[in-house]
Amino acid sequence: MALRTIREYGDPVLTKKAKPIKEMTPKIEALIRDMLETLYDSGGVGLAAPQVGMLKRLVVIDISEEQNEPHILINPEIIESDGEQKGMEGCLSVPGKSGMVTRPNHVKARALNEKMEPIEIEGVELMARAICHELDHLDGKVYVDLVEGELYDNDDLVPVEDEEDEAADMGQETEETNGEA
Ligand code: NI
Repeated sequence: MALRTIREYGDPVLTKKAKPIKEMTPKIEALIRDMLETLYDSGGVGLAAPQVGMLKRLVVIDISEEQNEPHILINPEIIESDGEQKGMEGCLSVPGKSGMVTRPNHVKARALNEKMEPIEIEGVELMARAICHELDHLDGKVYVDLVEGELYDNDDLVPVEDEEDEAADMGQETEETNGEA
């Protein structure tokens, strides 16, 4: 396993559409392992393959505090979404920043797992936000284009007391955006 370098906003790879994965190969297996390791090392909750320079339709998500509930989504597609949530969002490719983004509150997606078996994943709140955010990366979209108002420096944010409804950070965990993480 190895940590991969996370590409930062401004890198053209983050604006490109990723290609579907047709079959599992040792290279893709290694990519999945490395992406999980990179995600856990970064303290984020999701990472998409283009963020490590690979234009493949693959994302990994783990919103658990213990980093023991990995979701591996290959060729994911959102099949249902409803409701609305507003919250601060961040991205590992835009370190130290966050901004207000409106997302559906409930999302259901279809994908393949690491064995290339069809799976469905469903979530609300942070999980729904993470699914939307990571799938956007596969289409070359970065959350900063969805930010309502300013893109803040995390250092300038006032800590939020009631973390639950404000908590959402696909990027680095900070007390300011995640409450007590
Ligand atoms: Ni991101």
